[in-house]
Amino acid sequence: MTRMTTLGLAAGVLALGVSVYGLSRTLHAQEPSAAEITLPPDYRDWKLVSVAQENGQNNDIRAILGNGIAIEAFRNNVRPFPDGSVIVRLAWRYQSSARNDAVFPAPQSFVAGPATNVQISVKDSRRFAETAGWGYGQFEGGKPTQTPGLAKACYACHNKLQTLTPGADYVFTDYSH
Ligand code: HEC
Repeated sequence: MTRMTTLGLAAGVLALGVSVYGLSRTLHAQEPSAAEITLPPDYRDWKLVSVAQENGQNNDIRAILGNGIAIEAFRNNVRPFPDGSVIVRLAWRYQSSARNDAVFPAPQSFVAGPATNVQISVKDSRRFAETAGWGYGQFEGGKPTQTPGLAKACYACHNKLQTLTPGADYVFTDYSH
């Protein structure tokens, strides 16, 4: 190989490297926040906001918990949620319980089965300015779900609520008294 071709090849490799780096920077910039969100270690001890159940493919039962700041806002009906509010949504497969049904005259009992995933919404209007102040993350077995574009998908759907109910501050759940 001549010196010129070697140089040309090196320049080509460098250019490719720079453009791959540029592309990954661009992709990263488009991904709002999923990678930055961690699961607070004590979230399982937080207070209950409400519950929900999804049929269809999800077929799960859910608990929505909030940290102190979020609970305060929920209870006093404060919207938008103040910075520092964190809401966690736990979900488990929704399944019938043979053990419970054994004591009833007919099958009727459904309970939480294995956990599916944990989703989290974090309010920080500066950090997550591009998604209206909310950062989104998901965890399975305690590990972050790394699907590209995930946080964007969360935001896109929660943003639909915002169009329909602007006062909700992107949060579907109301406090159950
Ligand atoms: C297709 C629409 C849709 C998508 C996508 C979606 N959500 Fe939601 N989310 C909902 C609805 C509807 C509820 C309320 C009912 C429920 O909990 O099932 C909800 C509830 C929540 C809650 C409880 C607080 C609240 O807003 O009511 C959290 C936390 C949450 N979602 C986070 C996320 C995260 C994180 C993602 C992405 C990983 C995500 N959501 C993706 C529709 C969506």
